[in-house]
Amino acid sequence: MIAIDGPAGSGKSTLGTALARRLDLSTLDTGASYRAVAAEALHQGLNIHDGHAVASLVEHSTLEVGDRTIINGRDVTAEIRSDAVNTAVSIVAAHQEVRDHLVSWQRRWADEHDGGVIEGRDIGSVVFPEAAIKLYLTADPEERARRRAEEGIEGIARRDRIDSTRTASPLMAAEGSWAIDTTSLPVTQIVEMVLERLEHTEEGQ
Ligand code: DC
Repeated sequence: MIAIDGPAGSGKSTLGTALARRLDLSTLDTGASYRAVAAEALHQGLNIHDGHAVASLVEHSTLEVGDRTIINGRDVTAEIRSDAVNTAVSIVAAHQEVRDHLVSWQRRWADEHDGGVIEGRDIGSVVFPEAAIKLYLTADPEERARRRAEEGIEGIARRDRIDSTRTASPLMAAEGSWAIDTTSLPVTQIVEMVLERLEHTEEGQ
């Protein structure tokens, strides 16, 4: 299990995909699970501030996250990247009850896939604190905004603020995590650094 956390645009998906390819592991973008729930809540006209209503929606939904994201049989792969979902997702993800259901779903996913490279905001701190390696990615705000140009600097700043100040599992560097600034490091170099660290970790065990 490899846990990757960090704010929006810090390079989690790029690194996760590259690492998974090298290690022949599956990857899970847990952000897509929160986004799918936000998309479905908007689709059903729910009040996204009502944590109980959104949690009940999760409890009664089927969810698939992979090459395509599908909730209740509806393919929301494109919809989860819309402005409406960008705006709603941090509000949906701040509800503890919603998180409880999605964290169980994420753990089931990991069981079914025999581990994997899992990225999000609370993976090393809450979901898989026992991961073999925990990475906490950062990057300069201008670089993160450049990588998320479609959302805009204000949008990602707002999301980061909500994600890191909420009471339920806020974004943070997990204990024992390794912080990597990806602003100007090529992904190939980070992959080599992580593989080397993993080898040492395994030797030390
Ligand atoms: O990774 P992303 O930017 O697609 O995530 C979308 C939102 O989902 C993010 O702003 C906060 C929430 N999220 C979360 O609260 N916990 C996670 N493990 C992953 C994402």
